[in-house]
Amino acid sequence: MQVRLDVEGVRARFSALQRPFAFLDGPAGTQVPDEVIDAISGYLRESNANVGGQFETSRRTGELVTAAHEAAARFLGCSADEVIFGPSMTSLNFNLTRTVGRELEACDEIVVTRLDHDANVAPWLELAHDRELVVRFADSDLSDLEDQLSERTRVVAFPWASNALGTLVDAHRICELAHEAGALAWIDAVHYAPHGPIDVAAVDADVLLCSPYKFCGPHLGLAFVHRRLLDRWRPYKVRPAPGYETGTAQHELLAGFVAAVGYLDSLGWEAITAHERELGGRFLEGLPERITLYGPSSMEGRVPTFALNVDGRSPAEVAAHLGERGIFVWDGDYYAVEAMQRLGLENGAVRVGIVHYNTEGEVDRVLAELRAL
Ligand SMILES: Cc1ncc(COP(=O)(O)O)c(C=O)c1O
Repeated sequence: MQVRLDVEGVRARFSALQRPFAFLDGPAGTQVPDEVIDAISGYLRESNANVGGQFETSRRTGELVTAAHEAAARFLGCSADEVIFGPSMTSLNFNLTRTVGRELEACDEIVVTRLDHDANVAPWLELAHDRELVVRFADSDLSDLEDQLSERTRVVAFPWASNALGTLVDAHRICELAHEAGALAWIDAVHYAPHGPIDVAAVDADVLLCSPYKFCGPHLGLAFVHRRLLDRWRPYKVRPAPGYETGTAQHELLAGFVAAVGYLDSLGWEAITAHERELGGRFLEGLPERITLYGPSSMEGRVPTFALNVDGRSPAEVAAHLGERGIFVWDGDYYAVEAMQRLGLENGAVRVGIVHYNTEGEVDRVLAELRAL
């Protein structure tokens, strides 16, 4: 029997959702349940301190940091000492790419994709600029990814799901191809993370990054780095500090992160994915003729993130029109620079992003507005 998501019960946990807005902007950041907000403020009220002190609040903070690493390890399928927190995926990726860059040589090659958010492209371009590396681009459908690999490939950087087109990629297969070429598999799972379970061991990732604020947590970045690499790399860090994290962590946000993982655990991925698939199918079925959809036209091989344009209207115009009616969607390129260029979309597209807390009513509401445009 399929597990059903009690979406009204879910929504009751969010003060933010008790307003007449349809939040279809999840790919840019989801709303946060009250238990996450309470964990953040609870930490600041009761446990606020730095780590390493000989007193109660510092000890509690140390325990919290441990708990956050353990929650992330469960979320990612790795061990707690393979988890790195940072301010955002982008900042973590700049940091980690610089670190791996220390073992790369001129003319080494990095393969990225035209499906990527720029946060998994620009750090490699900058590193290539400094270290005379070569960056190769696989096309957005990844059909030529294998052709881009060579004996000089050192890293294959790719997204698990596209934040623009919603396309899912076969992460396990790409990791396999990367490893066959002797390269590291470097996954941007930011857009995938709100939509499905992650198991870094099962996909065989070397590095994987995501952002808790895309899955009902606070504004943080999160990375898995394989133990073998952590032991080998020389991190940029201050001498007295252990590990790879730089400076004092955002302790209150780590408290929110632990609560966010607890929240997702309480729903279960089976219920989340079934609900999202149902809503995505409903959206696709109801799309009016005048709309051009980019990316897969069924729910096969995708998450419910839809880039589209309305004939004769700019994406910004459509998003503003919907925004005035309490329907929050995105417009532009959402930093998926290469994918948009490939599609020839100078002004990008409207993005309707469905997550598990959205409802059939909200899908029908955005469809009705798109029909009326
Ligand atoms: C696919 C993808 N990768 C990376 C990022 C960057 O994440 P952060 O905002 O945590 O730097 C985003 C943000 O929208 C994204 O959608």
